[in-house]
Amino acid sequence: MLSDRMRDAINDQINAELYSAYLYLSMAGYCEAINLPGFASWMKNQAKEEVGHGMKLFQYLTDRGARVVLKAIAQPPGEFASPTAIFQQTLEHEQEVTARIHKLYAMSVEENDYATQNELQWFVKEQVEEEKTAATILEQLKRVGDQGTALVIVDRYLAERGE
Ligand code: FEO
Repeated sequence: MLSDRMRDAINDQINAELYSAYLYLSMAGYCEAINLPGFASWMKNQAKEEVGHGMKLFQYLTDRGARVVLKAIAQPPGEFASPTAIFQQTLEHEQEVTARIHKLYAMSVEENDYATQNELQWFVKEQVEEEKTAATILEQLKRVGDQGTALVIVDRYLAERGE
């Protein structure tokens, strides 16, 4: 059986995943406003992925017979300095999420909760991918800068991301 502490921590993580979706949707809105539809599309897909992460944990709690309790989602920032700045923020945000997942994992080890460890392994792996993707795009943006033809090319490249 899942401990109350573990259940509460996973409920908090569902909230964090949904906040991530909200943050990326806000970034998508910004990208639409500055006419970068490829960036906006990438962010919308990212937001969908985050809802998927939240739902994976929702299902896990349900499978363990624990109650899902949804809390208010914080308001994300609405203004961003530049396309490069949003990927800087994306990378930093994903690093924070990784730290949260690692804390959850440490808690599951402390509690000898093997099923939760198994569930969280997926998230540990996913975070490696999330950080790598954000870091790669950020480095490319730093190289090309925030305007000009190269930015349009990056926009087209980002538009190609599938869901
Ligand atoms: Fe759900 Fe981007 O981590």
